[in-house]
Amino acid sequence: MNDILCSTENGVMTLTINRPDKKNSLTLAMYKALADHLEQAQADAEVRVVVLQGHPQIFSAGNDIADFLSLSGSVQDSPITRFLRTVATFPKPLVAAVSGAAVGIGTTMLLHCDLVYASDTALFSLPFVDLGLCPEAASSLLLPQRLGHQRASAALLLGEPLSAQAALDAGLVNAVVPTEEVTALAQAQAQKLAAKPLGAVLETKRLIKEGQQQAVLTHMGAEEAVFGRLLREPAAREAFTAFLEKRRPDFRGL
Ligand code: COA
Repeated sequence: MNDILCSTENGVMTLTINRPDKKNSLTLAMYKALADHLEQAQADAEVRVVVLQGHPQIFSAGNDIADFLSLSGSVQDSPITRFLRTVATFPKPLVAAVSGAAVGIGTTMLLHCDLVYASDTALFSLPFVDLGLCPEAASSLLLPQRLGHQRASAALLLGEPLSAQAALDAGLVNAVVPTEEVTALAQAQAQKLAAKPLGAVLETKRLIKEGQQQAVLTHMGAEEAVFGRLLREPAAREAFTAFLEKRRPDFRGL
């Protein structure tokens, strides 16, 4: 089965995360496929908008934990970083449709999307600290800006999830609709964008992001360095092993 589906219609490329048996967790091969498709979308004049979506029951359970355990080489050189940097600098509009859980990178990638539509089942969580890790994708910069320091700390330090309504109230999503409507809404909004003059759309997106773009990339670099170190420390190894062994992690002494 292809874990990343790609189709293009009427100027809209739709990328579907399609690994429901593993809760749409993302493997290195899936990050590579996503980044490849985005680069192709960037280069292809026929593609004017990209939609990212998951499965009706789950957007994404985040990074594949087994891949985290076996990752060799630096995080900076990994497909994870390539994907995140591609999303963060993607020049065409990115529209997301989110149903069910969006864990870790399932949520942080959304901070770089231009329009996000969520089903009322969407649940956004950032359990980096519980995994012995730190935030990524400039989420430690962008979430405090959007949620305020205290709510960002509850999300990032305590790992408290945000409901669809909380995400709507915080401006992380544009609208919350029933699950059966979310992909159609995202597609309709993408089609509206695809019908607009491309040059004006691209310049407007660039101008919206320009004020912060360098700060976002610099912050991502700082996070990547810490993330790469923490990934190999005992707390993260214990968290990953515990998840795979279906037991609670034991952080005593760590
Ligand atoms: N990496 C690898 N496998 C994962 C996974 C992940 N991030 N998330 C889920 N899976 C796998 C499970 O191991 C399980 O595999 P199995 O059927 O071979 O045992 C399968 O997907 C179903 O997951 P399960 O936990 O039983 O589903 P659930 O409905 O009870 O819970 C989640 C769903 C998303 C809440 C839960 O799977 C979860 O917390 N996943 C980890 C999230 C995470 O920490 N991600 C990393 C963020 S940086």
